Amino acid sequence: MQKFQIAIDGPSGSGKSTLAKSLSKLLGILYLDTGAMYRACGLKALLAGVSPKDETLVKPLLEQTDIRIRFENGSQRIYLDGVDVTADIRKPDVSVAASDISSLPSVRQKMVAMQREIASSQSVVLDGRDIGSYVLPDAEYKFFLTADPKERAKRRLEELSASGTTTTYDEVLAGILYRDHQDSTRAFAPLRKVEGAVEIDTTHNTPEQTLDAILRALGPDIGNECGKSGKSCV
Ligand code: DC
Repeated sequence: MQKFQIAIDGPSGSGKSTLAKSLSKLLGILYLDTGAMYRACGLKALLAGVSPKDETLVKPLLEQTDIRIRFENGSQRIYLDGVDVTADIRKPDVSVAASDISSLPSVRQKMVAMQREIASSQSVVLDGRDIGSYVLPDAEYKFFLTADPKERAKRRLEELSASGTTTTYDEVLAGILYRDHQDSTRAFAPLRKVEGAVEIDTTHNTPEQTLDAILRALGPDIGNECGKSGKSCV
């Protein structure tokens, strides 16, 4: 089987990471969560007391920052200046800082170079906002996930509660709407559905239903790979 790339884009809470994780496991390929990288940048700005919107301060700060992705026991860990921040980057203030900092071109250039490097040597599934449009424009398979913002807020609230973060539905919804607007209106590589991407509205789907829809769209080539993992996917 030849090397292939799967790009999954969509707004926060649309189900991208759940789907990408299952898909990578089923196909035996690498999953890169690109949002985690912008989250690490946002966390760095918060820790340094620098506004994540101020490019003149953020650019030199990130030049002296070490962000590393490691894949340990099949799951992605992210290290900021040598410290594992995989859990810390999920906090709501980091979500906002990640969205703010991700609109800065110098930040995106640095992160995209790392993402392309990781994707260059193997079959991958990447999720994010600009994967199909900018990071991997030649990806063989492109998907765009959407869902009603109220459903997305509900899902995000459940995740946050499960990880012990205290917040309210209204706060989570407000954060989602803020990020939706900012991520899709920024000048550099905004969130958008590219021509040819398969759009799936996951509002009323279980994760399994979304996975099934994607596997059908991937077709028999990849379906045969699924067969090797013991599951008939097409
Ligand atoms: O996917 P996420 O919610 O963890 O992403 C956090 C933020 O990072 C998101 O609000 C926008 C930004 N992001 C981006 O600009 N491009 C990506 N490929 C992934 C995330």
